[in-house]
Amino acid sequence: MASKLTITTTIILILLSSPSWSQASTVTEPVPTPTPWPHQFHSILVMQLNGTYQIIDLWYDWPNGRNFNIIQHQLGNVLYDLEWNNGTSFFYTLDSSRQCSSAQLEFGILRPNWLDGANYLGQRNVDGFLCNVWEKVDFIWYYEDVLTKRPVLWVFYTGREAHVMTFEVGAVLEDENWQAPVYCFESDGKKSASRPLLQPHLSSAITTERTSQRF
Ligand SMILES: *[C@@H]1O[C@H](CO)[C@@H](O)[C@H](O)[C@H]1NC(C)=O
Ligand SMILES: *[C@@H]1O[C@H](CO)[C@@H](O)[C@H](O)[C@H]1NC(C)=O
Repeated sequence: MASKLTITTTIILILLSSPSWSQASTVTEPVPTPTPWPHQFHSILVMQLNGTYQIIDLWYDWPNGRNFNIIQHQLGNVLYDLEWNNGTSFFYTLDSSRQCSSAQLEFGILRPNWLDGANYLGQRNVDGFLCNVWEKVDFIWYYEDVLTKRPVLWVFYTGREAHVMTFEVGAVLEDENWQAPVYCFESDGKKSASRPLLQPHLSSAITTERTSQRF
């Protein structure tokens, strides 16, 4: 009788300590959170919206409070979109058209932890990578490689996709490249006249996407 009880107790103890039990007791695994952006990096992005493509050189530079999108339109011009953390942005060309417009926003560049509080949606295969996926305020869907924690893709609510082709952590663009050209500071009627250099859909996408970056 006593030995039967011992055996039963032993079996229970084995069950309690078995791996399947410990898994069952840890179902509350922490939900993955997006990796904060490195404070400085360079990325080449392939952008796609409605079958229109662009290549963006993205230079994110948080310590210096600046962010640069150098936008190559397919078989078209190059647009420089330079943003400062004080809310000032310049959009300009460096070709003979000498176009520039600026904007004063009431918020600065994205913070490294701008994805904090994003809503985890699970894992998905995208662009050939197994990714964790988050969504933030119905504004952006963000895909991060499960293995390397690097961003792979983000998609704006407009449908605009950014496919991350390179991700160079620590790369910094030299100061001289962050100087907007003189014609950005000429106070004539040029500003509004230069607006058409933005393709209309891009203009609205940039403005609306930016306006929502206040989280
Ligand atoms: C913000 O900083 C940039 C770069 O230093 C400067 O050109 C711009 O005038 C500043 N804007 C304001 C509103 O101070
Ligand atoms: C993309 O195309 C769809 C369908 O043609 C259209 O409704 C939408 O406005 C377009 N989006 C942009 C941002 O141009």
